[in-house]
Amino acid sequence: MTEYCVELKNITKKFGNFTAVDDISLKLEPGKIYGFVGPNGAGKSTTMAMIMGSLFPTSGSGKVFGHPLASTEALQLLGYSPEFTSFYRDMSCAEYLHYMGTLSGMSDKAATARTKELLEKFDLTEHAGRKVAKFSTGMKKKVSLAQAMINYPKVLLLDEPTANLDPTSRQEILETVRDMVEKEHLTVFISSHVLTELETVINHVIMINHGKIILDAPIHEAQEMFKKGILNVNTDNNELLHEQLGSKYQCTVTEEGLRFVSDDMPGLKQDIVSCVFNNHMTLNLLQEEVLSLDSLYKRIMEGNTHESDNKENA
Ligand SMILES: Nc1ncnc2c1ncn2[C@@H]1O[C@H](COP(=O)(O)OP(=O)(O)OP(=O)(O)O)[C@@H](O)[C@H]1O
Ligand SMILES: [Mg+2]
Repeated sequence: MTEYCVELKNITKKFGNFTAVDDISLKLEPGKIYGFVGPNGAGKSTTMAMIMGSLFPTSGSGKVFGHPLASTEALQLLGYSPEFTSFYRDMSCAEYLHYMGTLSGMSDKAATARTKELLEKFDLTEHAGRKVAKFSTGMKKKVSLAQAMINYPKVLLLDEPTANLDPTSRQEILETVRDMVEKEHLTVFISSHVLTELETVINHVIMINHGKIILDAPIHEAQEMFKKGILNVNTDNNELLHEQLGSKYQCTVTEEGLRFVSDDMPGLKQDIVSCVFNNHMTLNLLQEEVLSLDSLYKRIMEGNTHESDNKENA
């Protein structure tokens, strides 16, 4: 039987009459990176807080490596970087990390060694003695991630670790996380709005909207599921190509030339090549479109995009 790192069973969270998380179940397997995506107010932070034991579900139950949510055993296996972190005003970066280590039960020596290692990993060594409260947003995010890893957790819950960062810092943070996952065999549950950047890092995508999970699949499977062959084509006579194939295939004019959509990709390609050959045309572009996580997300959320935040909260 698979031992799941995290298992949620029919978890619901209500705030008054408002249902923020609505009967969700999920299972996280060891060693994988999970992307947890959904629009503002979808229920991402609420779900993470329940896994972390800082919020109690209204109904349902969950386990972390077989231990009930919020139990001491469960907490020791989890590392959490919340959406918003506040730091003690007078603590230096190194003091803060060391303090968080000892708070989670590490010895002074172990916390010191781990602090040094994480400062190096996150490129913060030269800032170790500076007050963390005065750090830039990106540096604070790094400190928040480092503290999440201080106690060698088995599961990392990262709530929007790249929010408000510039593209280079985002990439840097995600790469560091990926390195740590490989090195320390972690499972990561990471939420983000910036979906395209997650795509290169995650193995599995879980989408949530209005408190309900609407997709839970390996990233490649998800992409396949929603893939309707899209072919971008350009020739020296796009008008003629459009005229000849426009009634058989869905075809739109784009900046690049023509964009065909079909379930029958081999048939479409054959028809295009025949048309080009028979009419002595030149084929400049024949490019199948790879579905990005972002376009997948948009397709799934299509017609369902109004924010849960707009709903009246109790
Ligand atoms: N303590 C609370 N009291 C009342 N409503 C709450 C509370 N916490 C969250 N909510 C509501 O629950 C819903 C889900 O919130 P949550 O913070 O989990 O969303 P999210 O997916 O993390 O959104 P974002 O992407 O903006 O961070 C929202 O409508 C929010 O207003
Ligand atoms: Mg949130």
